Amino acid sequence: MQSPILQAIYHRRSIREFTEQEIDSELIYEIIRAGIWAPSGLNNQPWRFVIVRDKDFREQLSRQTHYSHIILGAQALIAVYLDREAMYDEVKDQQAAGACIENMLLAAEALDLGAVWLGQILKNKAEVNKLFKLDERFDLMAVIALGYPLHRQQKSNRKNLNEFILKNI
Ligand SMILES: Cc1cc2nc3c(=O)[nH]c(=O)nc-3n(C[C@H](O)[C@H](O)[C@H](O)COP(=O)(O)O)c2cc1C
Repeated sequence: MQSPILQAIYHRRSIREFTEQEIDSELIYEIIRAGIWAPSGLNNQPWRFVIVRDKDFREQLSRQTHYSHIILGAQALIAVYLDREAMYDEVKDQQAAGACIENMLLAAEALDLGAVWLGQILKNKAEVNKLFKLDERFDLMAVIALGYPLHRQQKSNRKNLNEFILKNI
């Protein structure tokens, strides 16, 4: 396959185990830069980010999800927020956040990093905000765990394309 974009889309897998190799700060900013180039309604760019590398913070954050082992094993975390003061439409702004997060996952893939989108932690979003000293103006959308993949044997599958096509008129 020729297109690097399609390659990244098809090769990207959720990576949940990481090596201890640190991630250069520039790469983290590159991933966020890819995120902010996602489309948003009215180009309102409602996303905001918290970067977490600190071990104590990671430990505290890990207590807010079943997936604590992923958070503890990651070299960096990026919490993706919506800023309610920048929002104009709940659904469209959440769609923009999804586009932003997927851009970030694809950027991680392009940079040979591994990443996983963590959503289960949202059930404790109030506690996460407390930890970051953020008020309810900021609505947590996901935490992305990042690191160099321990291995690349992850498998995933998708149903047959035909199962998703409602009509082809
Ligand atoms: C909204 C959303 C929430 C997710 N939450 C979690 C999570 O909390 N923990 C986790 O390990 N993976 C989580 N994932 C990753 C999915 O499990 C994964 O994308 C799916 O199984 C397909 O695998 P793939 O990403 O390797 O193609 C989440 C993905 C999405 C889009």
